[in-house]
Amino acid sequence: MRRRRFLGIGAAAVGAGTLGAFAVPTAARLLTEGRPGLLLNSTVPLPEAFQVPLPVPPVLRPVSSDGGTDHYEITQKAARLEILPGLRTETWTYGGSYPGPTLAVRSGRQTVVRHRNELPVPSVVHLHGGHTPAESDGYPIDLILPFGSDRSLAAPGMAGMAGMPGMEHPADLPLGRITDGDRSYTYPGNQRAATLWYHDHRMGFTGPGIWRGLSGFHLVHDDEEDALPLPRGDRDLPLMLADRAFAEDGSFRYPAVDPALAVPGVTDDYMNGVLGDVLLVNGAPWPRLDVDRARYRLRLLNSSNARLYRLELDPQPSGGGALVQIGGDGGLLEAPLAHDAVEIAPAERFDIVVDFSRYPPGTSVRLMNRFGSERTTEVMRFDVSSRTVSDDSAVPERLSDFERLDRAAAVTTRTFGFRRSRSDGWTINGQPYQPGRALARPALGTTEIWRFFTDVHHPVHLHLDPFQVLSRNRADPGPYDAGWKDTVDLRPAESVEVLVRFTDYPGTYMLHCHNLEHEDMAMMADFVVE
Ligand code: C2O
Ligand code: CU
Ligand code: CU
Repeated sequence: MRRRRFLGIGAAAVGAGTLGAFAVPTAARLLTEGRPGLLLNSTVPLPEAFQVPLPVPPVLRPVSSDGGTDHYEITQKAARLEILPGLRTETWTYGGSYPGPTLAVRSGRQTVVRHRNELPVPSVVHLHGGHTPAESDGYPIDLILPFGSDRSLAAPGMAGMAGMPGMEHPADLPLGRITDGDRSYTYPGNQRAATLWYHDHRMGFTGPGIWRGLSGFHLVHDDEEDALPLPRGDRDLPLMLADRAFAEDGSFRYPAVDPALAVPGVTDDYMNGVLGDVLLVNGAPWPRLDVDRARYRLRLLNSSNARLYRLELDPQPSGGGALVQIGGDGGLLEAPLAHDAVEIAPAERFDIVVDFSRYPPGTSVRLMNRFGSERTTEVMRFDVSSRTVSDDSAVPERLSDFERLDRAAAVTTRTFGFRRSRSDGWTINGQPYQPGRALARPALGTTEIWRFFTDVHHPVHLHLDPFQVLSRNRADPGPYDAGWKDTVDLRPAESVEVLVRFTDYPGTYMLHCHNLEHEDMAMMADFVVE
């Protein structure tokens, strides 16, 4: 009873404050509508690029292991981190660092992560790309309340957790599985090697939560991948890309409609998404790294709220094809794909091998963002050493064998339109997110074709199972659509068909846009696997 009342009041409090965010766009604003986001500039002077060494997030050790399970513990807490040299930034962290600690787990072993919430706000943890039973998937109202909070509306940051207009919690539905202070998430590990990530997924507040630091890597390893001669150890680097804006005192800037984060959403101008003018890699601004003249595996993750990158090395090695893609969101490709540039949308991962021995000793190689402007055109720099080193790594011609899902096996085709509505913000099939309202009920074990189409730019993400891209605009998939994916980027007025098989776990899962401002402003839906 108490919970229900509490959520109800939160929703009511939201109404008036956010109406502005859903105003009908003016003619002038329509000109910028197609862009995935608006730049929010820092008000602090920005540091020079390539001064800070690239940090690599620490790998978390299990607190215990038994038979088939590894147990981990993470405390979510605020920390004052030095992100810009000489300044402190109040950051929301997993375990005191940004990015959070990396979990490195074995396929076939179960992972249990106990999260304790010492943040000033409720949180939800989602393992992105995880093949996870519904109760551990981080359903957006399955809140972990802050440790020691008494569930009263008086607690700071607690109001409005029921979400947006149109995102109210229907009175006749069960509440989320709310826990006090901590909870454990169980990941059975029944999936192939892949670069996954974990992040906050609280309804209405995923954008500010990740912007403030709630993001970390979760790497799955397996025997198939271990048997390949790919670069490893210090030459296997997770790289988390994120853009941010900073205020004079070093704090993060974010255009929340309510800076206290009691009410979700951003101000009208940032409705398309928030872009920052500082590019961080693993939490450091425009870092640099000394590299050997050898192959490196770069596990690129775009954890930005809304920014789309086109990554390219400068200079290119002679002969081009510097970015050899070996994997995507859902693990290894069948065969490597050499690119000159890679386009990476929010939440996507590209597993890339770069051979720095293709450069003369002493070359400085910049990772560029060709979709950026001014300071956001440079990402980081690799300084190629002049030493001669041995490198026994290789990129085999055949990486993995996996089943190609077959169009003929699909039992149905469903269509999902990702569009802005005049009255309800960002919607899927005209519906703003409402917990408990399923837009699809696929049967466990079946394969379906899901067709997405867009008005403006939307990176579309599915929980539970990865998919294979079948077509883009009724033609073949694009150059960045290979392999198993869990997020597919759609440009304005595009349509993409994917094949997905719903496996192992019945229950309620999410389909949403991974532009976090769109997601928070209701571009999300439940689907129920039955
Ligand atoms: Cu990375 Cu539902 O999210
Ligand atoms: Cu996800
Ligand atoms: Cu979107």
